[in-house]
Amino acid sequence: MDNTPLMSLQSVSKCFYYKTSKIKILNNASFDIYKGETIAIVGASGIGKSTLLNLIGTLDAPDSGKIFFQKKDLLSHGDEKIADFRNSKIGFVFQFHYLLQGFSALENVIMPGLIAHQNKKTIEKRALNMLDRVGLSLRTSHRIEDLSGGEQQRVALARALVMAPDILLADEPTGNLDQKNSKSVHALIDELNKELGMTIVVVTHNHDLARMMKRSVTIMDGEIIPV
Ligand SMILES: Nc1ncnc2c1ncn2[C@@H]1O[C@H](COP(=O)(O)OP(=O)(O)O)[C@@H](O)[C@H]1O
Ligand SMILES: [Mg+2]
Repeated sequence: MDNTPLMSLQSVSKCFYYKTSKIKILNNASFDIYKGETIAIVGASGIGKSTLLNLIGTLDAPDSGKIFFQKKDLLSHGDEKIADFRNSKIGFVFQFHYLLQGFSALENVIMPGLIAHQNKKTIEKRALNMLDRVGLSLRTSHRIEDLSGGEQQRVALARALVMAPDILLADEPTGNLDQKNSKSVHALIDELNKELGMTIVVVTHNHDLARMMKRSVTIMDGEIIPV
């Protein structure tokens, strides 16, 4: 059996400077993510959950250490290659959506395919499929600003999934949702893992969502530890 993690953070350090103080988030931390795993990153506000997710998603780079995808050393490549990797292998749902206002739900979901220079018809078909899957088949031509918070979050999820990523990263995907919408996002995340074997890492304060994940980790004294 191949025991190579899907992603591996090795001796990763990350700190920020704020005015004159140094905020140490990770200090030679290591963390492996295996294919098909579901992981919750939990803990108090400000401990570095989003920072960790951004490192896993290559949206931010560590000060030192290595990040591997399968056996590929991601940080040894140029920015453009890393961006290609991110666009094709990683689906990201941000804490604050970052959907494009003024554009329709469908246009937003198509965007990653356009960036990857895929055939417009093909990507449109996949986008419509994804929107249907998140329960928005009747909202595809609505502009983002005309959708409710819950619907916007589901568009963000469809956009993250349209490229069939190997790994889904979600930063508080239900943070701004009411209970009913949270439940439907939870159900979808569960389905994606069970039906497609998708690897999923979520930052969450929601106990129900954290409990659904196979394991939870937090950050303490610069290390990533199980909880
Ligand atoms: N770009 C940045 N510059 C300076 N400080 C930052 C930056 N990003 C995050 N921080 C600080 O690092 C700490 C961890 O942030 P974050 O990862 O967003 O925490 P969490 O997601 O757990 O709430 C916080 O104290 C935050 O203020
Ligand atoms: Mg955060």
